[in-house]
Amino acid sequence: MKTILGIESSCDETAVAIVTSDRQIVAQRIASQDDEHRPFGGVVPEIAARAHAERLAPMVQAVLDDAGMTLGQMDAIAATAGPGLIGGVMVGLVTAKALAMASGKPLIGVNHLEGHALSPRLADASLTFPYLLLLASGGHCQLLLVRGVGDYRRLATTIDDALGEAFDKTAKILGLGYPGGPAVERLALEGDAKAVPLPRPLLGSAEPHFSFAGLKSAVLRAKQAGIHADADLAAAFQQAAIDCVIDRAKRAVAVALAEGATALVVAGGVAANKAIRAALEGLAAQNGLAFVAPPLALCTDNAAMIAWAGCEKALLGHSDPLDMAARPRWPL
Ligand code: KG4
Ligand code: ZN
Repeated sequence: MKTILGIESSCDETAVAIVTSDRQIVAQRIASQDDEHRPFGGVVPEIAARAHAERLAPMVQAVLDDAGMTLGQMDAIAATAGPGLIGGVMVGLVTAKALAMASGKPLIGVNHLEGHALSPRLADASLTFPYLLLLASGGHCQLLLVRGVGDYRRLATTIDDALGEAFDKTAKILGLGYPGGPAVERLALEGDAKAVPLPRPLLGSAEPHFSFAGLKSAVLRAKQAGIHADADLAAAFQQAAIDCVIDRAKRAVAVALAEGATALVVAGGVAANKAIRAALEGLAAQNGLAFVAPPLALCTDNAAMIAWAGCEKALLGHSDPLDMAARPRWPL
């Protein structure tokens, strides 16, 4: 059994969690910086790094107190080491290094994407490798074949915007504020997706890519035309995005089935979207795959997923040196 303290600070969530390898989230805290960034309509890296620096140390103490544990009872200290906004990543990683040094425990640097990729296994003990993962967040949109811890095959990635980014930009165009994904989803419920013709970039393409920039621009032009209701624009955008995701995912499913995958898993903040979940569930069912969507709190950025990735790595005997570098870019 391993008990790991995990830290996440790569974007605008400051988060700390203690997780055990038998899938218990012993304690966790998360502080969103939405209020700080809202006036700017997006995450401001410098503000994010400062907020992480202010909040992280007291939050580590609070989580240890919540758990009734000490650092000495941890088997390792894990932190996101990238990719992400470098200032925030450095705050989290340096904090983890200091805790590891002070306690004499090993350091485990976790790739944030790996945290998302493995988090479904924290929620679902029956989920075994390999599985097909759609990782869709504000910064990433990838289809990955997760073959094992540290063994990932990328089957598709975005050549421009991430899916969450497209939702956020659409929200901005429609004046819905930040963060935009949930607001677009809510408004889409009241609209007619067929009322606005929008493009489906790369639909039917053999290239293993996503592309959402053209869709976002089409939403902007449609909004500027001034003839459509915002709810119809939101609904049409969401449906076009779903059509693109499903078209891309269909190709990846064929590869994943050939490699023995038995499940289609969705992770990242966009996994909170009920319409996207439903479409993926349908695709999974058509192909005899189990559909796994972790609880929403595990889909958006959190520290339990980092602590859990730490558990998986610790069980394999993995640790990192104290001079490990923070990496703003770090493909899986
Ligand atoms: O994983 P996450 O919390 O942070 C990143 O690593 O980016 O994902 C946040 C992203 C944002 O772009 C947000 O708008 C999007 O996930 N998102 C959604 C929904 N909830 C969050 N997108 C569509 N529908 C939602 N319900
Ligand atoms: Zn994330």
